[in-house]
Amino acid sequence: MIPPKPSRGERTVTVLDVGTSKVAALIALIGGGEPRVVGVGQRVCQGVRRGLVADMEKTESAVRAAVDQAERNAGVQAGTVYVNMSAGGLRSEVEAVEIDIGGHKISDADMANLLAAGRARIDPGSRTVLHAQPALYAVDGTFVESPVGFHADRLGMDIHIVTADTPPIRNLDLAVRSAHLGVRTMVASPAASSLAVLAREERELGVALVEIGAGVTNIAVHMMGQLVGVASVAMGAGDITNDIASAFATRRSHAERLKTLYGGAITAQKDNHELVDIPPISDDEAGEIVRVPRAQIVAVVRHRLDLLFGEVAARLPQLGFAGPQARQVVLTGGGAEIKSVADFAQGLLGKNVRIGRPRGLTGLPDAQAGPAFATLAGLALFAAEDLPDLWNAKPVAGAPRPGAKGGGRLQQMVDKLRSSL
Ligand SMILES: Nc1ncnc2c1ncn2[C@@H]1O[C@H](COP(=O)(O)OP(=O)(O)OP(=O)(O)O)[C@@H](O)[C@H]1O
Ligand SMILES: [Mg+2]
Repeated sequence: MIPPKPSRGERTVTVLDVGTSKVAALIALIGGGEPRVVGVGQRVCQGVRRGLVADMEKTESAVRAAVDQAERNAGVQAGTVYVNMSAGGLRSEVEAVEIDIGGHKISDADMANLLAAGRARIDPGSRTVLHAQPALYAVDGTFVESPVGFHADRLGMDIHIVTADTPPIRNLDLAVRSAHLGVRTMVASPAASSLAVLAREERELGVALVEIGAGVTNIAVHMMGQLVGVASVAMGAGDITNDIASAFATRRSHAERLKTLYGGAITAQKDNHELVDIPPISDDEAGEIVRVPRAQIVAVVRHRLDLLFGEVAARLPQLGFAGPQARQVVLTGGGAEIKSVADFAQGLLGKNVRIGRPRGLTGLPDAQAGPAFATLAGLALFAAEDLPDLWNAKPVAGAPRPGAKGGGRLQQMVDKLRSSL
């Protein structure tokens, strides 16, 4: 493809999705409306297990190859990258802070003070803050988009903080740096994917995103337009492949094919009559090809999906996804390609379920337009959103005035939902 030239105000960003089955890189121009994709690259990766770097060299070489390909496509060098973190005990919290304004008109300096007071409230302990961003502003208790210019006594802010365990972050950082790339920001995968597949209105009404990857299933709950909780389940579509391989004594590569071609989440009557060839595990033996009814493959898929969605159903209320605002679920990730999985999930979870594909980017190639690329696209959208980061940004100038713990609206709602369980 011929890469488009940056127009005025646009800059190049590189994003990297390090997944259990593949590493994908994308270079985009941001700063002028929708991010414009100028290059993509992808490599199979065997160095990542359940979202965590397990083999440094294999991960590093897959990162390097994927980025090389994207660079060649784009005709530009990748700079520092936005990279995702899919596992590592992701945790999302909302912290509220409030400062005194004394009836004056809120100025940029007040905003800087508020951000500094917010930063002072963050205490990750031994964990690492991935990102800490303003979620909601409140002027004397009333939610406003942008507080500057309002007269007020008190200015409040809810901060959305995502943390992870420190060692997996360091390992991922090392793998990316070993591929001679700087890490600009690490983004929680479910936060990124949410940007790519959820509609703004869904986020306002209440929605849970369930991203089924190869090794990890990530959940992100949104209420009032904000991400209020994330969770990771160490199970994914790769487990279905393993189940098929062991149930029918065949290789994983065959099992992967069988899953894609004949697997499904709902059994059809005709599946009992359709016979599927299962190649033997080794070539040398006089092993015969075994034939099984397609329904048996579907049964293996369903068994794993029962376990997986059972876990999801247990986590959703813990994340505050309960009550009348908890009706919509969006499935994404490569596992969302399993035939009829939305119908299956709808039956099991008792919610409306749709499949989410990445959107909001111009020029995303067809090969990267499926649900397996939600995280990749979301990383580019995260970069384009460019929200202030209270933790990782340089400290705001001026001594912070102490802020009180505020009673943020989002905070109150999440607390209420959780305590009503
Ligand atoms: N058509 C399909 N039918 C069934 N499964 C599919 C299909 N397409 C992709 N998958 C499965 O989706 C999984 C890959 O999904 P994805 O690319 O989202 O994972 P990943 O990002 O590499 O891993 P993770 O996010 O868990 O670290 C694989 O297990 C693959 O078999
Ligand atoms: Mg993934």
